[in-house]
Amino acid sequence: MNNFIFQNPTKLVFGKGQIAKLRKLIPTDKKVMITYGGGSIFKNGVYDQVKEALKNHTVTEFGGIEPNPEYETLMHCVTECREKEIDYLLAVGGGSVIDGTKFVATALKWEGDPWAFLEKPIPVTEAVPLATVLTIAATGSEMNNGSVISRRERKEKRFFFNDACYPQFSILDPTVLYSLPQKQVANGVIDTFIHVLEQYVTFDNQAYVQDYWAEGILKTLVNIAPKLMENQHDYDNCSNFMYAATMALNGFIAMGVAQDWATHMIGQELTALHGLDHGVTLAIVYPGVASVMREDKREKLLQYGERVFGINQGSDDERIEQVIVATEKFFRSLGVGTRLSDYGIGEETINEIARRFEERKFMLGEKGNITPDIVKEILHHVK
Ligand code: NZQ
Ligand code: ZN
Repeated sequence: MNNFIFQNPTKLVFGKGQIAKLRKLIPTDKKVMITYGGGSIFKNGVYDQVKEALKNHTVTEFGGIEPNPEYETLMHCVTECREKEIDYLLAVGGGSVIDGTKFVATALKWEGDPWAFLEKPIPVTEAVPLATVLTIAATGSEMNNGSVISRRERKEKRFFFNDACYPQFSILDPTVLYSLPQKQVANGVIDTFIHVLEQYVTFDNQAYVQDYWAEGILKTLVNIAPKLMENQHDYDNCSNFMYAATMALNGFIAMGVAQDWATHMIGQELTALHGLDHGVTLAIVYPGVASVMREDKREKLLQYGERVFGINQGSDDERIEQVIVATEKFFRSLGVGTRLSDYGIGEETINEIARRFEERKFMLGEKGNITPDIVKEILHHVK
């Protein structure tokens, strides 16, 4: 196990009816900006619950944050926050609203053009305090310090980390998932699943506890995903889905282990260039990464196959092939296409993605050995 320092300051407030707790969680002397997306919170009652809980607070609202939150939109929010001297941000939404709010919180403390900290990994350490009411289980943004922002005009999607962006608290009421479109349930299951694989299917780190945690999350997802697709109103399944998503990317399973993230880095470019949902990009790219990098990931692919899918027959090579097929089959069972051709994407995009990594001098994977040429090979594999 590698050396590590772990600290996660986000308070989780979990369960039915917990949105009412906002009243006490945010100090009444704060000027609060509530941020939200395209309006799902008006249809499912979340907005009314938030407003009721904050009726004695000074609140303003900023809506219209898009899936894959857009830089230009967020800059409007920054301007409004400055005008209204906002000193607390409450994100009510999914990963996009939360990430967008983290960006606004950071930009408010940043001198100059905030694109700077997205373009290059410049250290950022300050932010206006923020908290979240989560409405979709997927990204883990509700309990981490990361944020991913898109700039459509430039066909770019970039990320930053800021420890000041750990939400002060996040409210996780599983009943809010009842109104999710099925496509978003599938995206959320896949995103959570791949977050775990990025931190677990690397090489043997002799980190037994982290491995069992990772496998616990994966097995939970394999078990509940078909039930969620059939009936989204089961409180226990929704609770476990929501908790799994948070635990997959809040730093717990990452302690002391190597991490991959090649699937995310490549998938991010597919969103930047074609606007595909984040979860969809991962379902396409992961089978390619696992296939092409199978020698580097050998031991962990075998362990993952055996402990998560019960694959224990055949030679090692056959078992590795079986686990890659099982993973792709799992994504397809959620109604998500796993090939570039399912989305009309071809050679031009593959070349452009490789060119971008070449230009940025990016080497991906847990060993930093995935060159732009290997990225091409990965994408050819999933054509
Ligand atoms: O905008 P509204 O109207 O709210 O609708 C949203 C949106 O259309 C809808 N939705 C959310 N909650 C709902 C609901 N509809 C009905 N009922 C509800 N309860 O779902 C749609 C998708 O929402 P979005 O926030 O985009 O989804 P998700 O949580 O998957 O976030 C994706 C974004 O997060 C980034 C992705 O790159 C992408 O930009 N990620 C952030 C990470 C992080 N900060 O740690 C890590 C991830 O790997 C990921 O990259
Ligand atoms: Zn993700």
